[in-house]
Amino acid sequence: MFLCWCLSLVALIPLTTSTNPGVKVKLTAKGIEYGRQLAVASILQKLKTIKLDDVSGKVRVSIGKVKYSLKNMNMVDVGLPTATLDLVPGTGPKLSIVNANFRLNGNWRVKYRFVKDSGSFKLNGDDISFSTSLSIKTDPTGRPAVSSIDCGANVGKMSVRFRGGASWLYNLFKKSISSAIRKAMQKKICPLVANAVSDLNNNLKTLNVLAKVDKFAEIEYSMVASPAVSKTSIDFGLKGEFYNIGKHQEPPFSPAVFSLPPQINNMLYIGVSSFTIESAAFVYNTAGALSLYITDDMIPKISPIRLNTRTFGVFIPQIAKRFPGLMMKLLVKMAKAPVITFEPNNATVQSFASVTAYAIQPNATLTPLFVLNLVSSVSARVFVSGTRLAGAVTLNKMDLTLGTSYVGDFQVGTLNSIFQTVLNFVVIPRMNAQLAKGYPLPTLGKMKLVNTQLLVLKDHVMIGTDVQFTG
Ligand SMILES: *[C@@H]1O[C@H](CO)[C@@H](O)[C@H](O)[C@H]1NC(C)=O
Ligand SMILES: *[C@@H]1O[C@H](CO)[C@@H](O)[C@H](O)[C@H]1NC(C)=O
Repeated sequence: MFLCWCLSLVALIPLTTSTNPGVKVKLTAKGIEYGRQLAVASILQKLKTIKLDDVSGKVRVSIGKVKYSLKNMNMVDVGLPTATLDLVPGTGPKLSIVNANFRLNGNWRVKYRFVKDSGSFKLNGDDISFSTSLSIKTDPTGRPAVSSIDCGANVGKMSVRFRGGASWLYNLFKKSISSAIRKAMQKKICPLVANAVSDLNNNLKTLNVLAKVDKFAEIEYSMVASPAVSKTSIDFGLKGEFYNIGKHQEPPFSPAVFSLPPQINNMLYIGVSSFTIESAAFVYNTAGALSLYITDDMIPKISPIRLNTRTFGVFIPQIAKRFPGLMMKLLVKMAKAPVITFEPNNATVQSFASVTAYAIQPNATLTPLFVLNLVSSVSARVFVSGTRLAGAVTLNKMDLTLGTSYVGDFQVGTLNSIFQTVLNFVVIPRMNAQLAKGYPLPTLGKMKLVNTQLLVLKDHVMIGTDVQFTG
């Protein structure tokens, strides 16, 4: 109940810009846990390469001044047993590490009056803690950018074991060693964490904010506002809009508000709104990519229905009479952008086309015979293929009305079977070949989607997925 309440509050946090996102991405607690593992691995890697500068100093003891130096300090092992990543609502994730430990080896050298001595030492620290908050903002390219804020590190108790040399000598400066190394380590940790965070940014910079689709279209995935951080998730609003390549013309419609249901089983939830798909249809329509000439050779040989004046003459006798023995050609052209409807478990596309039928004269001139209005509805199956969103459609129903006739009156309904054949055997297979290629989802670098599921919901499709980064 409490969770629902929190999530509904998050949903109410207004985005600071007027643009509603076309695509939403929710990183869940499970995703954040995966992020924690990646962050810890990265920080651990970096801690192992810490190079401590040589340390030298003097200690004043009762017998006088002892000069010592520590050289060749080498990190042998680092452990980060306890790391937590919590979300701080309104700010971002906070990474806290306690009980971290390390072992290092080095050489010591000491000078006291005329006595010189040297040996090696091993140092164990097992009381290191550090924490940092990450703020997530939008960079100028619309990608998320994180920065480490409020980093603090504390190195606690350490134990040193010496080898070689005289114990009465090194015992004189044993305490100073610990404090020198503690200071040196303490100074190194936060810059190193900042470094690990900036590596993370290198990763975030691979977000495909402008993903090329094909020769007509690209998708923009820039963030429309800074991410919303709640106790249990980070929510990103992305533009999710198709554009003609190089020409970003806005369609005459804009994204409606939609919200992802509170799912938690996967690391990541991606909601793709019907706006995104409609913007695709708008782009392809504007580019003229949704019109198609259909000729007889495109209709399977087994079909008794042919694109010639003999077949059409069966239904419209004037055609057989006035244009005997000619082949025909159809021009299917979108009249306006299709309407995409997402209802729970139901994705439907309604399209509005005009169909012009021509007779092909022996000298190749096209003589128009009639123009029909074709309203068709297809059901879409939407699925994820790799990191792409793909689909396949089947014809639901089709409705023909007469636009213009150049061959006198006829019953349009008699042409239904011809146009059903044309849609099922020519138009829809072409659409499906295109849809099967899919459209890039927002991704980072070499991100793989696993355990992926897709649900069609009201006004959007929701993809739940886990991710793996390879290399
Ligand atoms: C799917 O939705 C469309 C349009 O919203 C509707 O006409 C159709 O009957 C629905 N199909 C099913 C199986 O519910
Ligand atoms: C092509 O043939 C048609 C029909 O015979 C005729 O009306 C038209 O003028 C011809 N066009 C050309 C360019 O020869």
